[in-house]
Amino acid sequence: MIEIEHLSKVYIDKNGRVNALQDVSLSIQKGDIFGVIGMSGAGKSTLLRCLSMLETPSEGRILLEGQDLSTLKGAARRAAHKKMGVVFQGYNLLMQKTVAENVAFPLRLEKKADKAAVDARVAELLALVGLADRAGAYPAQLSGGQKQRVAIARALAANPAVLLCDEPTSALDALTTRSVLELLADINRKLGVTIVIITHELNVVKTVCNRMAVIDDSHIVEQGDTARIFEAPQSRIARLLLGKEEA
Ligand SMILES: Nc1ncnc2c1ncn2[C@@H]1O[C@H](COP(=O)(O)OP(=O)(O)OP(=O)(O)O)[C@@H](O)[C@H]1O
Ligand SMILES: [Mg+2]
Repeated sequence: MIEIEHLSKVYIDKNGRVNALQDVSLSIQKGDIFGVIGMSGAGKSTLLRCLSMLETPSEGRILLEGQDLSTLKGAARRAAHKKMGVVFQGYNLLMQKTVAENVAFPLRLEKKADKAAVDARVAELLALVGLADRAGAYPAQLSGGQKQRVAIARALAANPAVLLCDEPTSALDALTTRSVLELLADINRKLGVTIVIITHELNVVKTVCNRMAVIDDSHIVEQGDTARIFEAPQSRIARLLLGKEEA
């Protein structure tokens, strides 16, 4: 589904060069719930921004269903973009718009948006995420878990093949985290959507991810089956993150 090959990302700012990603190669299969775990500053959000085409890689390439994202232009680029829904770190909701308007937003940007069809799709998505009764509420009136559900519904609006989630549960308590993870697993099962979850929480990969990678200081240090990595983590950072070794 997604092949990341020798991806590097260098930021140049006033303090010099930052190597945010170095020679990252990952293989994500169709139907995976793929977890990328790493500490703060490891390069997780950078990886997600490269995947979602918000950022251009400095080196290497990303193939989505065999297509090299960097070579796509115009309609082909828009089509690839539509195949990926993004749930950003923080919810990124429009605070002046209702729940229903937030979910409808990406649909209304389409040229041939038909009001009745958009309304029906929004109702369907809100039912899917368990918020059918909060359509008219504003984000400020929702709990963190509910806001995350709105963000997930919005990311699914255009029927993406892949859902990219940056720290979807980092602001949530344990119980709410569990219910959001159950929702993501449900979406994966019912809709067949491939999911990539970026996280620093061990519990997240352990609960829902069938495959995972460990990112440390801009490098992928481990990847494979979650159960296998938990059983025998090879790298020191993986052992630390997985609680198999004291810091
Ligand atoms: N726009 C930018 N310009 C310069 N440096 C950046 C930029 N964005 C990120 N970086 C740097 O790249 C590195 C990786 O950042 P990134 O946001 O990908 O980390 P992260 O793993 O998502 O961290 P967190 O868990 O705190 O969200 C950091 O050293 C960061 O300071
Ligand atoms: Mg981040």
